[in-house]
Amino acid sequence: MYTLNVNGNVCKVENDKNMMDYLRDDLRLTSVKNGCNQGACGACSIIADGKVVRACTMKISKLEGKEIVTVEGLTEREKDVYCYAFAKCGAVQCGFCIPGMIISVKALIDQNSNPTRDDIKKGIRGNLCRCTGYAKIEEAILLSAKIFRDNDEIPKTIEIVGVGKDIIRIDAKDKAIGKAKYVDDIVVDGMVYGKAIRPPFARCKVLSINKENALKLNGVIGVYTAEDVPGKRNLGHIVQDWPVMIAVGEETRYIGDAIALVVVETKEKLEEAIKLVEIEYEQLKPVNNPREAAEENAPLIHENGNLLSLQSLKRGDVDNAMNKAKYISEYTYKTPFTEHAFLEPECAIGIPDGEGIKVITSSQGIYDEYRELTNMLGVEQGKVRIQSAYVGGGFGGKEDMSVQHHAGLLAYLTKKPVKVLLSRQESINIHPKRHAMEIYMKVACDENGKLLGMRSRIISDTGAYASLGGPVLQRACTHAAGPYNYQNVDIEGRAYYTNNPPGGAFRGFGVSQSCFAMECALNDLAEKVGITPWEIRYLNAVRPGDVLPNGQIADEGTAFVETLEAVKDIYEETDKDENRYVGIASAMKNAGLGVGVPDTGRCNIMIQDGIARIRTSAAGIGQGLQTVIFQIVCEITGLNARQVFVELPDTKYTPNSGTTTASRQTVFTGEAARRAAMKLRGALKEKSLEELDGELFVGEYSFDSDPIGSDKPNPVSHVAYGYATQVVILDKEGIVERVVAVHDIGHAINPVTSSGQVDGGVVMSLGYGLTEQFPLKDGIPQVKFGTLGLLRSVQVPIIETILIEKNKEDLAFGAKGIGEISAIPAAPAVQNAYFKKDGKFRVSLPLDDTAYKK
Ligand code: FES
Ligand code: FES
Repeated sequence: MYTLNVNGNVCKVENDKNMMDYLRDDLRLTSVKNGCNQGACGACSIIADGKVVRACTMKISKLEGKEIVTVEGLTEREKDVYCYAFAKCGAVQCGFCIPGMIISVKALIDQNSNPTRDDIKKGIRGNLCRCTGYAKIEEAILLSAKIFRDNDEIPKTIEIVGVGKDIIRIDAKDKAIGKAKYVDDIVVDGMVYGKAIRPPFARCKVLSINKENALKLNGVIGVYTAEDVPGKRNLGHIVQDWPVMIAVGEETRYIGDAIALVVVETKEKLEEAIKLVEIEYEQLKPVNNPREAAEENAPLIHENGNLLSLQSLKRGDVDNAMNKAKYISEYTYKTPFTEHAFLEPECAIGIPDGEGIKVITSSQGIYDEYRELTNMLGVEQGKVRIQSAYVGGGFGGKEDMSVQHHAGLLAYLTKKPVKVLLSRQESINIHPKRHAMEIYMKVACDENGKLLGMRSRIISDTGAYASLGGPVLQRACTHAAGPYNYQNVDIEGRAYYTNNPPGGAFRGFGVSQSCFAMECALNDLAEKVGITPWEIRYLNAVRPGDVLPNGQIADEGTAFVETLEAVKDIYEETDKDENRYVGIASAMKNAGLGVGVPDTGRCNIMIQDGIARIRTSAAGIGQGLQTVIFQIVCEITGLNARQVFVELPDTKYTPNSGTTTASRQTVFTGEAARRAAMKLRGALKEKSLEELDGELFVGEYSFDSDPIGSDKPNPVSHVAYGYATQVVILDKEGIVERVVAVHDIGHAINPVTSSGQVDGGVVMSLGYGLTEQFPLKDGIPQVKFGTLGLLRSVQVPIIETILIEKNKEDLAFGAKGIGEISAIPAAPAVQNAYFKKDGKFRVSLPLDDTAYKK
């Protein structure tokens, strides 16, 4: 028997166990988050006798007799202050890391009531945040400390909530104190636990499966294999090539394949049951990279061959441009796989629901899941319902099926609620990554630095399954020429299947890779011409009315040049400073699916009990979409914050607004919300909100773009493009000291949220450039969460964000989306800064021989 004091209550515990499990499962303290269960992320932080400890690494016996504090145990004053400060400063995005962060902050402020920024960075160095880039968290901590010191009152919530205001995110407070429920925080009566058995090798043949011994184990409810899937066994949003489970006699394609599913009564039984399922494998040599996959005698990973996608974009006369050129830059660049490292590992709960099922998920598109699960079960439309809980980050990594299909299938087969939660290592091994690419890039300019033409050949490692590999390659190709005004391009891309984890959507969607190559090439040309990298961009930048390399005419809202003008002084001054090295890069990024793919945003407003309830399936994954549409509806209708409520996505009520991808939701769902709100505004001229009870106001927006290869002289590939320029400054030792990020955002609906996206994107891109790695050996990831190279607070520089707002379009108030582009230019900018430092032109990421990586 062990005795603890938890949040002021004496707790007696019979048997020793893991502290995080005890707090979460037995005491239901949901502020203690399971981010990694490996001691690396700090999401499970608690205070034990005044010291911060990670609950996942502690046994109860080690904490015997100690005073334990979780966020639930803070005083009301502390909760009010932290909630207010974190919400006010825009420090809460997906929110999954925040309660653990607040615990570290409390321990810090209890010791030091007036911490400096450096004290703060050190105080939260054990807490990873993948969304915010830490800057706004640090501001929130400074504000919290001030409020405590000066005993300030917390200001009342501001009721003016229209467009362009820095309103507090609608979900920030619940997330900060651990009240917002992510899937793994939800407990359903009678819930049991499921888990997949994965192969020991990336490529092997499944010879036999014997489940008898497992079924004899007390507490095992069932063991299921491929033949138990009632409907379609192959899933996939675009190409249906990904089996729910691999059958006996078939080959696995990667380490994350599922061979069988086990369901048990208590989660402690899972590992024991899995060990009792006897599976025989024949190990086969894996295909490790696209070059091996392209070989004539390579094993076929899928029956139609190893080439998933071939993309081609040709305009003008590139040979002529190359012949006329004075200078040419020609290199082959390599970019690695990248792990999304969202803080919340994948989890889903399948629940029997009449003749069908309901699944509670944490994903980026509930209607994708609806379609996939309906197909998998072979049931009629309407028998599957998907509800979203809060989503603890996604960045593209929660678009595919990971646990949702398994939870749904197990609930359907067992007629019980079944939770499936990935361990952090499973999450790392299983979900699709940012594609590794090899990019040949040849770019030509005249004697003044005016671009004449470019040729690029891109090879993408799409891993075991298609996922979004085709569109990602396409976007890499369509953006490879950059946001510059020249017309001779010849781009070809090929994506090959391998036995590596699948490549899929990742913030940047292929542009992170091709932009790295193009921006490095541009800096190389500037060097050859003898002008600055800033000057070569200014000379070639697209301006309104110019034609982009893909043929689209840049519209009036194009503000690329303004992003360059905004960094001119800082760039030039730093360039003269012999103690600093400055690098620069720019980017463009589409909003919306574009290239002829149907794309629709939907948002309805239902009036119930005097409240305008906003309904859309658009997933909020930390980017703040729900607050954006809340502001749009308030702006148009004039309703106040208490009269409007945003529901979580649920296929039973919320209309299909597509996936949270391609920086599309602010434009597409934002515009749909604006249209629905205009209808409500019209109705409010005749009746009060109460009198409109039961009425539904429907908003929908679609955009017809032109496909790639369109014969129009100036095809419209995308509804909008955002532009950005980022400047990275290194100190003498090569440490990134400062980043200035200027973004053409169109119109910021919520400026603090937009700049928070930029902060987070910059840090992600610096990680891509300098520290993050995803080594593989025979298709098996050789990393843990703690060795991915994610930047911590103490490594993050000062980030200054400047938002350029010049788009006058009515469409979604002129917003263009900011989610992806912010995460693109810093990597090539840091490459440029290092070139300035040591003259070495690096062509691979993460950059080698730096202060971060020897
Ligand atoms: S869950 Fe404990 S450190 Fe990550
Ligand atoms: S807000 Fe920190 S991980 Fe999402």
